[in-house]
Amino acid sequence: MERALVAEQMSFDAEAVAAAVAEGIEKIEHASTMEELKAIRTQYAGAQSAMTMASKAIGGLDKDQKKEAGKLMGKLRADFGRAFGTKEAVVKQAEEAAALAAETVDMTLPVKRKPLGARHPLPKLMEDVEDFFVSMGWQISDGPEVETEWFDFDALNFGPDHPARQMQDTFYIKGNQAKDAAGFVGSNMVLRTQTSSDQVRGLIAHGVPLYIACPGRVFRTDELDATHTPVFHQIEALAVDKGLTMADLKGVLDKLAVAMFGPEAKTRLRPSYFPFTEPSAELDLWFPDKKGGAGWLEWGGCGMVNPNVLRSAGLDPDEYTGFAFGVGVERTLLLRSDINDMHDLVEGDVRFSEQFVMGE
Ligand code: DAH
Repeated sequence: MERALVAEQMSFDAEAVAAAVAEGIEKIEHASTMEELKAIRTQYAGAQSAMTMASKAIGGLDKDQKKEAGKLMGKLRADFGRAFGTKEAVVKQAEEAAALAAETVDMTLPVKRKPLGARHPLPKLMEDVEDFFVSMGWQISDGPEVETEWFDFDALNFGPDHPARQMQDTFYIKGNQAKDAAGFVGSNMVLRTQTSSDQVRGLIAHGVPLYIACPGRVFRTDELDATHTPVFHQIEALAVDKGLTMADLKGVLDKLAVAMFGPEAKTRLRPSYFPFTEPSAELDLWFPDKKGGAGWLEWGGCGMVNPNVLRSAGLDPDEYTGFAFGVGVERTLLLRSDINDMHDLVEGDVRFSEQFVMGE
């Protein structure tokens, strides 16, 4: 039977109310949540509890008994209150600690990072070409993109009226007539139209013998379409030494073709004209995977360095000869990876670049 009922039925039962409070205190000691504690308080100290009933019953007692009962009730209330208060503090603290622990963010846990992206195939290809030249002991040279008209055209034997200089091909820089890094005053400034602009720069800077490859960005006033872009990349190669011949040129070209396109690749030279080479040739590539069957495809230009170019660099063409060639990096990539549209190369869509990521 519940102690509360006992208290209710009897007028004042000291033993019973003491036992009820003792039972409540014991329950308090075993409680571990605020919810439990509140329920115990309602049961043992609430309006219907033995303790409240007993307090009410005191009124009906004799004077002597009243004093005695009052004392007892005071002690019981104090005992219960102390037990409750002590336990309440402990439980509250534990519940707060648990809530804190549950809300804690571990800053050291690995987080989901942003997607990694993928390296664009163009710079990768340029590095591969650089590796090819470095493996032959050549140097990699890096000229400026904002170049003097002199290095881009004059030093390379382009006449003053050469059509490539026209505004419709070349980006001219406003506020021309600057002094460039090499100290040339008075030359117009352009966005270089070809990495051949590094030829005479390299010769002046390093002297001869010289074996350099110049990878870089070049600019022409073309509209972007499937086969053109106003900003593209070339790799220029220049060798100047005593006794170099076209056989040396052909040997390097064939080796580069194999490095880029596999063991079946080879090159062919077709007579052509460039102001800075004499003789000059179009460089064709034997392409086994060509659509519609294996065949020759145009890959770049090449030739023996024109004596006037050597003179621009202060060299004696009777003493030194050289060969040079230039290939488009975009063109190489389009051929190698069977890409049909230049837009794919410039749009920066990671889904395109991801196809070239290896080993992941
Ligand atoms: N600079 C030429 C171009 O942009 C390519 C070229 C042709 C480079 C012949 C050469 C060369 O070194 O000998 O079209």
